[in-house]
Order: sequence, then structure tokens, then C-alpha cells
Amino acid sequence: MIEIRNLSQRFAGPRGWVEALHNVNLTIPAGEVFGIIGRSGAGKSTLVRTINLLTRPSEGNVIVDGRDLTTLGKDDLRAARRDIGMIFQHFNLLSSRTVYGNVALPLELAGKKRAEIEAAVLPLLDLVGLSTHKDKYPAQISGGQKQRVGIARALASRPKVLLSDEATSALDPETTRAILDLLRKINRELGLTIVLITHQMEVIKQVCDRVAVLDAGRVVEEGKVVDVFMQPHHEVTRALIGDVIAHELPPALKARVTERLKTGSGHLLRLAFTGSGVDQPILSETIRRYELDFNILHGQIDEIQGQAFGSLAVLAGGQPVKIAEAIDYLRSQGVVVEELSHVE
Ligand SMILES: Nc1ncnc2c1ncn2[C@@H]1O[C@H](COP(=O)(O)OP(=O)(O)OP(=O)(O)O)[C@@H](O)[C@H]1O
Ligand SMILES: [Mg+2]
Repeated sequence: MIEIRNLSQRFAGPRGWVEALHNVNLTIPAGEVFGIIGRSGAGKSTLVRTINLLTRPSEGNVIVDGRDLTTLGKDDLRAARRDIGMIFQHFNLLSSRTVYGNVALPLELAGKKRAEIEAAVLPLLDLVGLSTHKDKYPAQISGGQKQRVGIARALASRPKVLLSDEATSALDPETTRAILDLLRKINRELGLTIVLITHQMEVIKQVCDRVAVLDAGRVVEEGKVVDVFMQPHHEVTRALIGDVIAHELPPALKARVTERLKTGSGHLLRLAFTGSGVDQPILSETIRRYELDFNILHGQIDEIQGQAFGSLAVLAGGQPVKIAEAIDYLRSQGVVVEELSHVE
């Protein structure tokens, strides 16, 4: 488990201090894939570098597996860092070393014997699907394969935690999916805790159990991925989710809806539901029971780690009291209902 307590990070900038992290508190349970998302400059890389103390925090503590890294001396810190692997956006491979040589490097640096190194590296190459490429050089393999080398190298010292800073940002969507699947497999098979930094909600949606949203150095929202998607609270979260679920309506439709809302004859609702709600006739049942008309403006069925997730924007017409009853009914069925008074 990783505990981040009251973490702040200040840098001296040309116009005074820059507060890159402000009083960040996070608990990352062991064995989870934990996502940290935020816009550019939010402080994500600073946070991840502080987790393994590559940069010392101005204030606060980083506790990994019960040990407070900020209190450790040089040697103890070096030893503790072996429990924390890291992968990067630009892979950071040595071009003069083969695939095998890159993965072996941390073990060589740790003074391990040749046979021991081989016994560790070959299964790792197998795990990441690179056995047949072991004698190639980085220039001879694809971006996705390079990241597989980066992952195998990070795993060489058998870490308990893997930190990933935008590890899929330089890859196309298909390769991204394959790398995220590999990370998920490693998480499951090795029980590794993974902290995954990204600016893409798509990445969070595909592999993370929990997510924290970072904005201007602060954690503005945190929770299980499904919950955050069902009911995003912070505007930054909404904007980031907007990449996946388009809340926005086509302009002509927007104009008509705005007109109806002005005359007070419609209620604009956002409905979000998961699991059984997706394939049960809750909507048609609601319409029948409360004699409403529902105009579906926008809808999307998606999947969050194998769990169906739906989001609908509807313009509901009917008697106000019936609409209120309908909202209660929908909520009793596990649907998250949000009343939007206006169209953005
Ligand atoms: N070493 C440093 N010295 C001064 N300022 C820094 C330093 N490192 C980061 N910053 C500043 O801290 C803020 C957060 O930067 P950081 O790199 O953590 O953002 P990020 O969320 O990783 O952004 P991106 O998505 O673009 O990678 C920025 O304003 C940045 O300019
Ligand atoms: Mg960054």
C-alpha cells in the first residue's frame, strides 16, 4: 500500500514559487491499478517522481509498505527504490544494448551473476511477449515492443509497485490497448500495485480500479472508476470524461432543447446506469408508469473493465409531479439521475 500524506511540492520559478503539488493525500491499496489523471501541468509527473523520491517533497510523507521513504537515509532509500519500478512515455532504452541487455541492466548494476540474470530475464521476456526479439536493438523494434522492454526492465528487480508516467501516450490506440492489457495481466499475475499516470480517460476506463483527478496540484476528485464515471462531481472530471462520453449536443438540437426549457415544458435529465440497468427495460417502464414522454437526445453504451455502462441525455415531458416521481423511481432502480436545468 502507498500512502501519500499532506504532500506539497514547490519549485522556484522565474516569477517566484510554483506550487506543483498542494497538500495531496492519497491511499493506494496494494494490488490495485490506480489511475491519476489531469490536464497538462496539473502536477502528475511531479507526483509520480515524488512517490519514489526522485524529487524530495517540500512537505509531507510517502509511505510505501509501511515505510516512510522521506525518513530513509541514502542506502535505505536505494534499497526501498528497488521495490518501485517505473516506465516512461519515451521508453528510455539504451540504444547500444539489445532487448535482453536492456532488461538485464538493473540486475547487472545490482551485481547479480550471469546465470542468475539469465534465469530472471528470460521469463520476463516471455511474460511481455518478446522472447523471439531478445537479440534485437531498440532501433529494430516497434514502439509497442519498446514499451514491453521498458516493462520487463522495470520488473527485473521484482518490484512491488510499478509507476507508469504516460507510458502509452506515444503509442497508437491499438498498441495502447495491448500494453494496457499487458499491465493488467502483470497486475493480476504478479499482484503488482500499479500507479498509472495519464491525461486520457480512455486509459483510466480500460485498466484502472480507482482514479484520482489532479488539477492545479490538488486532488479534486477520487473514487472507484465506475462511480466517477456514473457521477462526476468536479468540472475538470466532467471535461475529461467528455472525451469518452460526449455530453454535447448537435447545435440544432441544442437550440430546440433550449427553447423548450425556456418555456418550462421540459426537464433535461442525465441518466447513468451500469450492469443490469443497461439491458433492462427501466426506461420504457418509467415512461409507461408516469405517463411521460422521453426524448432521447444523446446516448452511449460503453464498457468499463467488462462492465456495461450507459449514459443518456433525455428531455422529459409530463406533469411536474409525475416527473419527480419518475426520478425517484429511476433512482430506486440504481440509475443515477442528474437534473440539468440548462444546455451547455
Ligand atoms: N523542476 C521543476 N522546476 C520548476 N517547475 C517545475 C519543475 N517540475 C515541474 N514544474 C512545474 O510544476 C507544474 C506541474 O508540472 P508536471 O510536469 O508535474 O505536470 P504534468 O501534470 O505531468 O503535465 P504533463 O501532462 O504536461 O506531463 C508545472 O507548472 C511545471 O511547470
Ligand atoms: Mg507529465
